[in-house]
Amino acid sequence: MCGIVAYIGPRQAYPVILKGLKRLEYRGYDSAGVALLNHGLKVYKKKGKVADLEESLIGKDLEAHAGIGHTRWATHGEPSDRNAHPHSSASGKLAMIHNGIIENYTQLKTELTKKGYQFKSDTDTEVLLNFIEDIQKNNNCELEEALRIALKRVVGAYVLVLLDQDNPDTIIAARKGSPLVIGIGKGEHFLASDASPIIEYTKDVVYVNDFELAIIKADELVLKNLGNEKITPFVQKLDLELTAIEKGGYDFFMLKEIFEQPDTIFDCLRGRLDVNNRTITMAGVQNNIEQLKNANRIIIIACGTSWHAGLLAEYVFEELCRVPVEVEYASEFRYRNPVIHAGDVIIAISQSGETADTIVAIERAKEQGAFIFGVVNVVGSSIARISNAGAYTHAGPEIGVASTKAFTAQLVVLIMIALKLAKEKKSIDDDRYVYLLNELHNIPEKVKEVLLLDDDIKKLADKYKNAKDALYLGRGYNFPIALEGALKLKEISYIHAEGYPAAEMKHGPIALVDDSLPVVFVATKDSYHQKIVSNIQEIKARKGKVIAVISAGDDMIPKMADDIMMVPEADEIVAPLLSVIPLQLLACYIGIAKGYDVDKPRNLAKSVTVE
Ligand code: G6P
Repeated sequence: MCGIVAYIGPRQAYPVILKGLKRLEYRGYDSAGVALLNHGLKVYKKKGKVADLEESLIGKDLEAHAGIGHTRWATHGEPSDRNAHPHSSASGKLAMIHNGIIENYTQLKTELTKKGYQFKSDTDTEVLLNFIEDIQKNNNCELEEALRIALKRVVGAYVLVLLDQDNPDTIIAARKGSPLVIGIGKGEHFLASDASPIIEYTKDVVYVNDFELAIIKADELVLKNLGNEKITPFVQKLDLELTAIEKGGYDFFMLKEIFEQPDTIFDCLRGRLDVNNRTITMAGVQNNIEQLKNANRIIIIACGTSWHAGLLAEYVFEELCRVPVEVEYASEFRYRNPVIHAGDVIIAISQSGETADTIVAIERAKEQGAFIFGVVNVVGSSIARISNAGAYTHAGPEIGVASTKAFTAQLVVLIMIALKLAKEKKSIDDDRYVYLLNELHNIPEKVKEVLLLDDDIKKLADKYKNAKDALYLGRGYNFPIALEGALKLKEISYIHAEGYPAAEMKHGPIALVDDSLPVVFVATKDSYHQKIVSNIQEIKARKGKVIAVISAGDDMIPKMADDIMMVPEADEIVAPLLSVIPLQLLACYIGIAKGYDVDKPRNLAKSVTVE
């Protein structure tokens, strides 16, 4: 959370930073600000979105060739102008932006307050900045040295970027726990939380590692560790096109990303699934096959939508591979004292690869000897780098805060891993294996068919947009989809929604049912179909409004449901890839009908880099 951008070089810094901040707004949009170096330090900041900052700066002198910018997701201190970044030091000579949390900031603040420091904001960032300046003053040292000393005292996670009025040709940055990419141009450098602000200028990038400091001039990049030793930067080529991060004619990224799913699923399968040769090629699985085959247990850790993908994977792995699976919220796993054995395999699922809780959960499991397999979307992200092995989801950049295409890509990767493992373990018979390969292969075309429901779902959205609550019910493989459908609705339309296993509704949620409650059933044809039909009848008997996602050819549910969304028939293991799509569209259109910015739902951020 929080996006950072910086520039140093011959271009005007402000337009580069502003454009970059707009691309990083998915990381937070409570406030935005820039600091520019031009005959002194100028800091401008504003509560609200980057566009609000831009408007407030019309007519200002923004000339500068070095600058830093920030878009905030508030942690310490409410969203306001004064809590917005960049923060200035007491002397006014330093400005700093920060992504992360300084956990021991109250202790540092007490020390500084005793020395007479006063603070203009409620943030941990301002405290750290003054702590750095205080060290610099007391030790009469360079900023770089003061930063190194300060960071040895800091507990928490950060990317920090500093401007120093007395050294206008240098930007200094440091990283621990939050992401930082440096773009290397000709006589210029770019810094950002991810590569999106950088790609139109250069494809040469360096991903900064934890506990590294970057000292950057227009034509020089020096990386050092906290012990002041130089590190050779590892320059990589970006594999990302500008079009991938633009809206491409859609009003919202979320809609674009929903409609991209035939392609993203195809991309995810491409080069891996070969129906003719009946193979799945995944180097990360193949190279570690003994480890995976011999796992006593698989533990899946993830957060949010990725956790829902993990829940579905539990069902698939247990069914196909006959291995016990547990699914854990990373935020719980990291703090309890889980029993982990050396033979355990952890599958960590993350779109961003930067979710703080998932990263720490991985570290805890690694310490105890577990093997970590990452299922990650963002190439080169922290989780991709700390995993022992992994598979990318290849969904391309996902910018809408509510995850859609990354979720279906995660499911595809997880199903492929399960199939490959099942084949190796001989826990699946050949006919079923070949059948499921074909079923997966056919998914992109079937997703295209589902997307034709677009107009009908818009009408449904209009019909149900004023609901106060909604219940989402599913059984078996469709239970995680019910959870995901409910999450999508509450995230972007602010309608209270709960997902439940359909049979469990009798143990509580059924008390909520009346003629105003929409109940969404995820009821595609599977082994439990007859059971879910009974659940629908139970809701109808209590006058609930039933909206059902059903399979083509189902002639029973249309007679009972108020509204239906029909998807092509598919095996129950791959059917969730179809049944989730109408739910994504429904949530998206309800959000839009209510006039909300579905790409930037209130209080949320796409990449949760704080715990
Ligand atoms: C945030 C996002 C969700 C995402 C979750 C986990 O809450 O808004 O869309 O599912 O983080 O993120 P990850 O990047 O680890 O999948």
